[in-house]
Amino acid sequence: MKAIVIDDYGGPDVLVLKEVPVPEITDEQVLLRVKAAGVNPADWKIREGWLAPFFPHQLPLIPGWDVAGIVESVGKNVTLFRPGDEVYAYNRLAVVQYGSYAEFAPVDECMLAAKPVHLDFAEAASVPLTALTAWQSLLDFGHLKADESVLVTAGAGGVGGFAIQIAKHLGARVCAAASAHNHDYLKALGVDHVIDYHHDDIEASVKEFSAEGVDLVLDCTGREDVAINFKYVRRRRGRVASINGLLHTVPELEKNAARCEVEARLVVAEPNGAQLAEISRWIENNDIRPLPVEVLPLEQAREAQIKSQHGHVRGKLALIID
Ligand SMILES: NC(=O)c1ccc[n+]([C@@H]2O[C@H](COP(=O)([O-])OP(=O)(O)OC[C@H]3O[C@@H](n4cnc5c(N)ncnc54)[C@H](OP(=O)(O)O)[C@@H]3O)[C@@H](O)[C@H]2O)c1
Repeated sequence: MKAIVIDDYGGPDVLVLKEVPVPEITDEQVLLRVKAAGVNPADWKIREGWLAPFFPHQLPLIPGWDVAGIVESVGKNVTLFRPGDEVYAYNRLAVVQYGSYAEFAPVDECMLAAKPVHLDFAEAASVPLTALTAWQSLLDFGHLKADESVLVTAGAGGVGGFAIQIAKHLGARVCAAASAHNHDYLKALGVDHVIDYHHDDIEASVKEFSAEGVDLVLDCTGREDVAINFKYVRRRRGRVASINGLLHTVPELEKNAARCEVEARLVVAEPNGAQLAEISRWIENNDIRPLPVEVLPLEQAREAQIKSQHGHVRGKLALIID
């Protein structure tokens, strides 16, 4: 099969298109004919070796945690899916080795959900990791309620776009930050109060929106100075979810949380087929929408990762596999 392979960690040039054997599946996996691979910042972080201390990696590896496609075959213990099903997944397997930048990928059954019927494969592949991250930050950690207020620090990106829509769907009030050229986009997603993080005084703007600070901050900027979020959140009932994913930020997060009497957590999104099935229902009911997706062919995986690494993608990027 055709796949983008990394033989060793490094810059975009280590992404090489190759012919490799179709991977084998376990009894609990399906073999997916990949139609589209969602591109996430995690993919270039894997390419550069940043995530190797946190998740087991096996080189050479095929990157890609987000996938949408058609079930080709199933392991003998798989009960929920069968060949021909159109599915999608945040497919972070136990070992980072066989990802979605390929014609076929093994996927754990417990990570799969049926693809929302009216989404094309590229739109579907752009949902799982980012929507699950938003869900697990706002709901599992944040216990967000209707009438509460939320700050989404990077509203124009993948996680931000789903977080805004999920928070609005739950009945919360949302403020979000982005560059000025993305403000109309944020308003179309439902944001009540937009902040230009380049020029505005963010703290003053948040307090204009919610005088005591917001109930919940979802920081998805990728910045390391997580402590800054404590300026934006309400004392006592406030919560701060950081998805920066850097374990060394945890002690700082906890120290500041205790001092400010708020709850804070570094959220690391977990694959979860049941939650993804709920997200599918929201999408099918038009409660939330897929984000705009720039689509590139698999052969342009390098270009896609360069764009992602630049940090200013609006919505999502996806690779399609013919
Ligand atoms: N812990 C986890 O499980 C987890 C899960 C998913 C993602 N992440 C991490 O979370 C971060 C965001 O992920 P993502 O998928 O949403 O990324 P993304 O889609 O690549 O985010 C791009 C967006 O970030 C915005 N942005 C960049 N710098 C900003 C800043 N200082 N303030 C406000 N907005 C800013 C850009 O908006 P403008 O163009 O307007 O600047 C752009 O639209 C990444 O570092 C990713 O690796 C962690």
